[in-house]
Amino acid sequence: MWERTGVTDYLDLNRLSWDERAPAHAASPDYAVQQLVDDPEFLSDVVRFDMPLLGDISGLDGVHLQCHIGTDTLSLAKLGARMSGVDFSAAALGEARRIAEAAGAEIDYVESDVYLAAEALGGRTFDLVFTGIGALCWLPDVRRWAQVVGRLLRPGGRLFIREGHPMLWSLDEARDGLVVGYPYFETAEPMVDDDDSTYVETATTFHHNLTHSWNHGLGEIVTALHDAGLQLTSLVEHDTVPWDALPGQMVRLPNSEYRLREHPERVAMTYTLQAVKPC
Ligand SMILES: C[S@@+](CC[C@H](N)C(=O)[O-])C[C@H]1O[C@@H](n2cnc3c(N)ncnc32)[C@H](O)[C@@H]1O
Repeated sequence: MWERTGVTDYLDLNRLSWDERAPAHAASPDYAVQQLVDDPEFLSDVVRFDMPLLGDISGLDGVHLQCHIGTDTLSLAKLGARMSGVDFSAAALGEARRIAEAAGAEIDYVESDVYLAAEALGGRTFDLVFTGIGALCWLPDVRRWAQVVGRLLRPGGRLFIREGHPMLWSLDEARDGLVVGYPYFETAEPMVDDDDSTYVETATTFHHNLTHSWNHGLGEIVTALHDAGLQLTSLVEHDTVPWDALPGQMVRLPNSEYRLREHPERVAMTYTLQAVKPC
């Protein structure tokens, strides 16, 4: 695969996969794009879940890192934030711009590797950096990511991340029960995956399926943010996750989250972390 495609870099490899999946995601009922466009009150399931911890964001300047097709970005704009979005997939941003325009929202979408986001955004700083739900796993170095977040925040600004828990990412979803099959800690070598599916309902057949990803332990994430000069203000672990992370073992709840059918108290599925840049 490497030789045949000429792909030599994790960014190129992962981008091919995301470019191919973006239009299928935008067309999938699971992303509810038409409802988002048609109903000004309608928010993505992810942002609706976040609201109690997110609080009032009206009037804030926000940036959504790894914004994908912008459904959460648009939802944050509907809550009154002036939003920008960053993603390295031109195809994802094409969908995001189309969706924002159809919804009548002004969102500034910028194409960039997240590690270069501060430069790509021209040195602008923000009150809110929002990210998560399948974002950190695509980055080899969580310390470098935390430094970028630190540069993007104004003094007093806040990071809000809800993300798949590193304990969940370490579980082998193909095995019954809770079997640790992958690293919990960040490793130099990526996890290499060759998977022709995606996490939403779609009839599309995918051809770019090889990806590289990394886990990052909770302590590594917290320490990276601390070393980037941020102060942790809140860390909440959840027993639910917005996708069917362990197929066959989870039930879908009325709020569209998935929880282990049996003894969900055994393992955290996601966490919400908030940290501020001191004034
Ligand atoms: C699972 S999606 C994020 C999900 C998002 N929470 C959502 O559901 O809309 C991951 C996104 O990260 C982007 N991405 C992956 N690696 C990246 C990188 N190095 N720099 C910028 N974007 C990246 C992909 O293009 C994709 O849009």
